[in-house]
Amino acid sequence: MYDFTKSSDRSNTGAIKHDFAPEPVKGSGFIPMTVADTEFPAPPAVNEAVKRAADHGCYGYTYADKAYMDAVAGWQKRRHSWDIDPDWYVVTNGVVQALGIAVRAFTEKGDSVLLQSPVYFPFYGAIEDNGRVIVDSPLVNVNGRYEMDFSDLEEKCARPEVKLMLLCSPHNPIGRVWTEDELKKVAGIARRHGVTVVSDEIHNDLIMPGYGHTVFATIDPDNCIVCTAVSKTFNLAGLSCSNIFVPNAELREKFKKEAHTSGCGCVPYIARFATIAAYNECEDWLTELIAVIDGNFRFMKRFIAERLPRLVLTELEGTYLAWIDARAYGMDHEAMSKFLAENALIADNDGAMFGKNGEGFRRWNIAVPRSELEGALVRLEKALKTLEK
Ligand SMILES: Cc1ncc(COP(=O)(O)O)c(C=O)c1O
Repeated sequence: MYDFTKSSDRSNTGAIKHDFAPEPVKGSGFIPMTVADTEFPAPPAVNEAVKRAADHGCYGYTYADKAYMDAVAGWQKRRHSWDIDPDWYVVTNGVVQALGIAVRAFTEKGDSVLLQSPVYFPFYGAIEDNGRVIVDSPLVNVNGRYEMDFSDLEEKCARPEVKLMLLCSPHNPIGRVWTEDELKKVAGIARRHGVTVVSDEIHNDLIMPGYGHTVFATIDPDNCIVCTAVSKTFNLAGLSCSNIFVPNAELREKFKKEAHTSGCGCVPYIARFATIAAYNECEDWLTELIAVIDGNFRFMKRFIAERLPRLVLTELEGTYLAWIDARAYGMDHEAMSKFLAENALIADNDGAMFGKNGEGFRRWNIAVPRSELEGALVRLEKALKTLEK
């Protein structure tokens, strides 16, 4: 049994979530619920491996050696029934970096790239900051559950200027784990219209009980790249290391060339040790983490149903990011952020940052000790009640 009831004080460690929290929250001692890292220390076996790496004392250039690739491939096989050829592998210093590389590798300036809003906000930057055009196929909110609009997706992929699709799978911020059936439809549409798929599967290990993740490459290996990492699963985002797989040789050549131009090539030294330990020794820790997140979500769902019925909570199928519809309060999204920080000492994410259709929603990172989540919900209730008078 691991202890997920405590968090360590991360203030003044450079932690973005803590040190950049709005002032009233920063001074409060409460944990912000923004940036997608967790408040739980990495598994003990990872921490031991990192200490051994530091004890060695040489922090030189490091590559994805056999021990590393065996750990990565073993994990994908055990957890995702996915057989990886080590040749497919490309290292990047993060999935966001890989998204930008993919956009530059597979499209030309002025081409269009499809995304599905509301979506993790750096998807927008990966397209626009590289001089490409965003084409949005918005997800549809059906009674609080989001679905893809396949006829809209087909119509947009059929546009000759659309060359690439950024798929978020599982989807941040709306917590869907796309079914195999849904992904097969996406694969079919993309194929029919010559659109390459970048499948961002960074949340692929954080799947709630009753749901199952399908790796996009198990459906159409020749028309995709798959982005994975240890970062979300084991709280290792600060180690800046992602494992990207490009099964198709032609796509891989293009991706590798652009990755090289962007300065990628080495596995960060500490990340190598952490990844090997995480993937080889920490499956039991992950099982417990998922139970903690699922328990937090169930608790939050009950609380909201019983005490804050004007809020609508989307079912969490994957990730540790809860998506709350607060539109019933009719408050402008920026005013809501200010109100929550000042009156409830809550820092969360304004849904508008994930797209226009995220306006009126809030994203809560619930990978926190239960006591913190409960405290935040109680403060939220108290603050929202003042609006109802
Ligand atoms: C969907 C998604 N992709 C990528 C990232 C960030 O990846 P990285 O830190 O590896 O750049 C996040 C972080 O929240 C995410 O949710």
